[in-house]
Amino acid sequence: MIALIRVDFNVPVHKGKILDLTRIKAAIPTIEHCLQSGMSVVLMSHFGRPKGLDRSLSLKLLIEPLSKLLKQKVFFYSSITKKGDEKTQNLNPGTVVLLENLRFYSGEIANDLLFAKKLATYGDIYINDAFGASHRDHASISAIKTFFTAETKFKGLLLHKELKELNKLKTARSPYTVIVGGAKIGSKIHILKSFLNIADNILIGGGMAFPFIKELGGEIGRSLCSKLELDVVKEFLIKSKNSKTKIVLPLDCLTTTSLNKTSELITTEINSVPKKSLGVDIGEKTISLYNKIILASKSIIWNGPMGITEIEPFSSGTRQISNSMVRATKNGAYTLIGGGDTISDVSRFGVKNEFSYICTGGGAMLEFFRANKLATTLDLKKLK
Ligand code: 3PG
Repeated sequence: MIALIRVDFNVPVHKGKILDLTRIKAAIPTIEHCLQSGMSVVLMSHFGRPKGLDRSLSLKLLIEPLSKLLKQKVFFYSSITKKGDEKTQNLNPGTVVLLENLRFYSGEIANDLLFAKKLATYGDIYINDAFGASHRDHASISAIKTFFTAETKFKGLLLHKELKELNKLKTARSPYTVIVGGAKIGSKIHILKSFLNIADNILIGGGMAFPFIKELGGEIGRSLCSKLELDVVKEFLIKSKNSKTKIVLPLDCLTTTSLNKTSELITTEINSVPKKSLGVDIGEKTISLYNKIILASKSIIWNGPMGITEIEPFSSGTRQISNSMVRATKNGAYTLIGGGDTISDVSRFGVKNEFSYICTGGGAMLEFFRANKLATTLDLKKLK
């Protein structure tokens, strides 16, 4: 029997090097469970956000670490084709195959039924263990379920564990603080809305702070911001005015005129970034304000870095927020951290095991708290 497992192998990479293996490691128990039950395994995942075929985002990069973790050879199918289906039918029990990046195919994001049907031919049973991608209505998560019966589609062990842990925060202790950074404001703003009137504080950092500052009339120089982002932020700010939730924005930031100029950093007020500069990290005033709020909180969720942490000199804000989260945990707060970049950062800072829980999902973790949006993709039986 072949288990077709949707995993989230969207690991953080920088210049072709994998920065953190947490997401791969987290998928191992389900894979081993299937192998030990005498099955062969076909793994499928997305990797990055390619627009069609992009060899720099080939999942081939993961074959070596995955083989090491499983202590066995992992085969790689470089295309999802009819021919691939025939090869798969002859897999010996105990074999592991990894398919190429699902997002090289337009049918994946389009949740296309024909693409899902093709994917479904790779397995006799389907397992979703990709918690981090479970908020996406994509073919390998959503449409694919059409091609398996209630008896042949399952939630993987990781997915089950993540849901069990996140459920604990449905009754979060107050003060309840949500920290969100990174650059994906378009996909996170609607999630932030769902925390209005639930969280006491929402702290914003990273690239997503700049559309807020610009919308409020500040000068952000060349920092990240698009017209669309301004529109979503405007709507969010109007909504947040009538809520009990405090939206806290950075007070200052580190700026540079070029990402290569890591030693020429100037701290400016967040709303006075010089025209030729861009913000790359939060500044000291912001760090001390955020630390104070974190240390006064009893429940804290954090997703997304406070600066461009792939570049070490721009990671000081994220490091200091991480340290306060560790202190808050020691003081008895429940701290939940999620998302590939954030996990990679706290691993690099050497504190990965010092939070209450590390969740493999970033967007998915936040989405979980939003009116059960995940429910449609997770209505699967638990893997026995
Ligand atoms: C993530 O990194 O949060 C997941 O892998 C989902 O990726 P996506 O935001 O590109 O869908």
